[in-house]
Amino acid sequence: MENQNIYTLGIESSCDDTSASILLNDKVLSNVTSSQDIHKIYGGVVPELASREHQKLITSVVNEAIIRAGINKGELNTVAFTRGPGLLGSLLVGTSFAKSLSIGLNIPLIEVNHMQAHILSIFIKNNGKAPCFPFLALTVSGGHTQLVIVKDYFKMEEIGSTLDDAVGEAFDKSGKTIGLEYPSGPIIDRLSKDGDPNAFTFTKPKVEGLNFSFSGLKTGFMNFIKKESSKNKNFIKDNLNNICASIQNTIVEILIDKLNDAVKTTGIKEIVICGGVSANSELRKKMNDLSVSNKWNVYFPKIEYCTDNAAMIGIVGYLKYKNREISDLSCSSTSRYKI
Ligand code: KG4
Ligand code: ZN
Repeated sequence: MENQNIYTLGIESSCDDTSASILLNDKVLSNVTSSQDIHKIYGGVVPELASREHQKLITSVVNEAIIRAGINKGELNTVAFTRGPGLLGSLLVGTSFAKSLSIGLNIPLIEVNHMQAHILSIFIKNNGKAPCFPFLALTVSGGHTQLVIVKDYFKMEEIGSTLDDAVGEAFDKSGKTIGLEYPSGPIIDRLSKDGDPNAFTFTKPKVEGLNFSFSGLKTGFMNFIKKESSKNKNFIKDNLNNICASIQNTIVEILIDKLNDAVKTTGIKEIVICGGVSANSELRKKMNDLSVSNKWNVYFPKIEYCTDNAAMIGIVGYLKYKNREISDLSCSSTSRYKI
């Protein structure tokens, strides 16, 4: 098995990205993602529309991934899909498609936990140096904020998580308050580059242990914008870069404070940061600085493997295939799925 060439098809459809990827062992040959622009006009993902879009897109996205990889579908050894967590209607589309392919091509079906995939995306060959076990993972996305001890590929222990909103929501809802498009995280990141991170200060939450909370920050930010806009109706326009840099700075500080606590509690200095928000340039910069000053080993997946993508599903598929962890055709999608 070790020397064998394994072609894995990964399929991701847990939220609003329809994605397919082909891996040769742990190396990505293609990674095709179609993001659903339809949600922008609603300022957030509309589940009913998301599942319909997945149905429209999935065939062409999978086909394109196979073409770009330069293989034919008969060469695939296995098909891996996101079983959960996520939006049920969206998950059902990817799950059913993967099952059909598994039957049609007579290849094993492998279920993947989306949050484990964000973490294990660090083992995609194209990323460079991989971390050693045990490591700490901070998973920061639109739906989750978790601190996890990763003892081995599939031995993970959650040691902290958000009590309310996810960190991606803190970015997206703050963006909505100041009139930015969904998803606002990348826009706030871009606008912050020309802003002063200390222009405005926001109260950080006080949360016990290694848990997070972002809903108070969201409300505080909304109240601040409302108050300032009542004094100056052009407040947002006049201060857009400073507002973005300041809220981004606060969010990044909250994450890093907890990470510091987690390192102190566990004694683990091997750190992986993953999930959509790990694409944030300020978080990357601060963590790279800390890796020097605190002697931490910090790892980020490449940007294209941070936000939702099927390459991360493919790498988990490959790792499970090697372990012969094959799923039953009767397995079903699940919106909640513990890590
Ligand atoms: O992992 P992901 O693609 O989907 C979920 O599983 O939720 O994460 C999406 C989240 C969104 O909230 C988006 O605003 C945020 O990641 N995001 C960012 C950046 N790129 C994506 N947040 C801050 N800075 C970025 N550069
Ligand atoms: Zn995700």
